[in-house]
Amino acid sequence: MQNKNYISSYIAGTGKCVPEKIISNSYFESYLETSDQWITERTGIKERRWTDDNVGITELAQIASEQAIQRSNLEVSAIDGIIFGTVTPDFHLPSAACILQTKLGITRGFAFDVTAACAGFIYSLALADMYIARGVAKNVLVVGGDLVSYLANQQDRNTCVLFGDGVGAVVVRACEKDAEQAGNFKLVDLKSTPGIYASELCADGREADILKIPYGSANRLTPELVAAGGHFVQMDGKAVFKFAVKALVEVTQTICAQVGLKISEIDHFVSHQANQRILQLVGEQLGLDKSKIPMNIEKYGNTSAGTVPVLLDEELEAGRIKRGDLVLFSAIGSGMVWGAVLVRI
Ligand code: UT7
Repeated sequence: MQNKNYISSYIAGTGKCVPEKIISNSYFESYLETSDQWITERTGIKERRWTDDNVGITELAQIASEQAIQRSNLEVSAIDGIIFGTVTPDFHLPSAACILQTKLGITRGFAFDVTAACAGFIYSLALADMYIARGVAKNVLVVGGDLVSYLANQQDRNTCVLFGDGVGAVVVRACEKDAEQAGNFKLVDLKSTPGIYASELCADGREADILKIPYGSANRLTPELVAAGGHFVQMDGKAVFKFAVKALVEVTQTICAQVGLKISEIDHFVSHQANQRILQLVGEQLGLDKSKIPMNIEKYGNTSAGTVPVLLDEELEAGRIKRGDLVLFSAIGSGMVWGAVLVRI
């Protein structure tokens, strides 16, 4: 078995921010034909957090980012670039990353958003590693999160009960240079060295219709479209569910084969929190011990690109994920897009 590989970067620190306002399942019982029992049994969600009206995502992102930078023992001036996985920026233009850059007091480097829906953090994390491997940055702030409460039609019980708001952030740093270095890659022992070992990003646009917000340049906003809820999330839940289980199983197998590690060697599967039953099925199909699949969906629902970094930060804070553990991040979202990043923390 291969146990050496080249890496370029590692996760130096994490942070998160969720709104204070808690919306429990009983809120929806008050005006929709739904129940706490249905939501809990079919999804695992008990409550979610919502921002107040007109609070933009960069307000939460600033708090999460400052925490991640501080925990990385860095000054904000050391950040060479910001990659923000989100589909709920403060405005259509400019990007949330640019607004966040100014809020953090950063005046140099790059800043851009990544549109990969619920897989936005995974895509952004993989990109940060690639920028560092190419030698164009040493410290990249990666943010993932969404305020999905504002994209959900609160009259549509098929979707509105599922989503919440939340943001997580990590700082991805270049590895220290040493003798066993080839360019910006360092030869390491995969059994012990912290770092981003591999990433796998996938897309299949043929499935675009099963999860979408139908308005845009090809379908302009008209009073009729607004009346039909065309500016809100529309989802074929069953189709997305089936797609998610298959894609998350396959991407896990692929990434482990890529680096020559066994799935059983992974300590924690920090995966997108869309539905407890999706995670249970993925776990069963991969033969995983339940204790290796952390979940916080009961508290926050599906925060889209926020689920993975928020869960990572919580698990690290609680000491359930420790430095040195091998962690697989994975997610799936509208596109369809999905992916995984394998990291020794
Ligand atoms: O983050 C992006 C990825 N998103 C996902 O991964 C979501 C994937 N999909 C899912 O999680 C599940 O498909 C849902 C939770 C969305 C739905 O669960 P399901 O077990 O697939 O239910 P269903 O859509 O097949 O609906 C079953 C029944 C339907 O009623 P009928 O037609 O059998 O009379 C729905 O109308 O449940 C009904 N239903 C509800 N009932 C009470 C749907 N939503 C609700 C609700 N409360 N909130």
